[in-house]
Amino acid sequence: MNVCVIGTGYVGLVTGTVFADLGNEVICVDNVKKKIDMLNSGVMPIYEPGLREMVLRNVEEKRLSFTTKISDGIRKSKVIFIAVGTPPKANGESDLTAVEEVAREIARYMDDYKIIVNKSTVPVGTGNFVRNIIEKFKRNNCDFDVVSNPEFLKEGSAIADCLYPDRIVIGVPNHHVAMALLELYAPLERPMLITDVESAEIIKYASNAFLATKISFINFIANICEKAGADVTLVAKGMGYDSRIGSHFLQAGLGFGGSCFPKDTLSLLCTAKKFKEDASILESVIKLNENRVPRFANRIMEKLKPMKGKVIGILGLAFKPNTDDLRDAKSLVLIRDLLKKKASIKVFDPVAMDNAKNILKNVTFCKNAYDVAKGADALVVVTEWNEFKLLNLDKLRQNMRGSYLFDGRNIYARERVERAGFKYICIGMR
Ligand code: UGA
Repeated sequence: MNVCVIGTGYVGLVTGTVFADLGNEVICVDNVKKKIDMLNSGVMPIYEPGLREMVLRNVEEKRLSFTTKISDGIRKSKVIFIAVGTPPKANGESDLTAVEEVAREIARYMDDYKIIVNKSTVPVGTGNFVRNIIEKFKRNNCDFDVVSNPEFLKEGSAIADCLYPDRIVIGVPNHHVAMALLELYAPLERPMLITDVESAEIIKYASNAFLATKISFINFIANICEKAGADVTLVAKGMGYDSRIGSHFLQAGLGFGGSCFPKDTLSLLCTAKKFKEDASILESVIKLNENRVPRFANRIMEKLKPMKGKVIGILGLAFKPNTDDLRDAKSLVLIRDLLKKKASIKVFDPVAMDNAKNILKNVTFCKNAYDVAKGADALVVVTEWNEFKLLNLDKLRQNMRGSYLFDGRNIYARERVERAGFKYICIGMR
């Protein structure tokens, strides 16, 4: 099938590449020339395990191409995916400017029947919005359908999530268009759910908001564990064995960050308010999440005060492991708070250092965790990279001036850390 994917961010680039890998002819379009130039010279604009190899293979086999010319992509393809960004506006609503612009371009260049698929995370009603724009601006009298096909991939495991999704949700206005999408996804042999457009749009937000709720819930339990002398990791394990609850997304820590959960919970909150529905459940989820870093920062400051002149080593900057993404990363908030208190900050992340150098000022960038530890009064684990789990703790401790290890992701066993001479403070335990 001839497929066009507009937008080469995480979602667009990975889904376009996977469709090509399944044998389709895919044109990926982006209006940022630098990104397209990078992709055409084999350089990935994002860090995602396995992506580069798959892109190069499909480019070489001429199933995948990258261009800034949206007209080419639209004219040559039957199915057009919209996968552009929908960042939050100041009031929390999703900004649909890029979706609107793309819809106008599709209207301008389409010359026969097209299936337009909203892949971007967009609030309920956007399918209709896109349909109306295309109807209004189309130049040829050709027919088209607008479909909602939300993406559920996670950064860091995007290729596997795309190849083996738990489910494929296709929101369609009629059965004829459903068949084309079913054909496209059939090779994956995964469960498919056909719905109306609005339900598909809500499934995406409901899923992300539910997972965010699980995280805030376990973080709330962690707060109680800290006071009651319980251990949140054991509590989560005990809860997770109940198959109705499940063990995923019950890891207490510094809360959820990244480009999806914070934005999508806010957007769903706006939708609920628009419909004049009580959204206090989501308000609590968001508030709990926003309190995670200040609460942890207070625990750090309590132990280390006065902060002036104290050297704090930060292990991990990305919003989660296996990505170089710093959007809504907890590290940025924590570092800002500690700098305000006049601490000196040293940082290291296995892959996010280049991105961090563009954002962070007044911190020392180190070449590895041991370098971070040199002369530090305390270390703080912010991102649970695997390589931090197996560090030589004796060596780490010997490099330091102080002895505190604050573990914001509970990656260590207390006994092991204390044996190396650390004073260990983690989440959801005394
Ligand atoms: C999330 C969803 O998991 C995907 O299904 C969805 O497609 C994607 O958003 C999206 O809407 O595009 P992602 O943001 O890549 O994926 O990352 P997650 O692995 O879901 O983690 C999100 C945040 O929650 C991270 O900051 C992570 O540290 C935090 N988290 C996750 C916890 O604090 N505890 C947990 O138990 C799990």
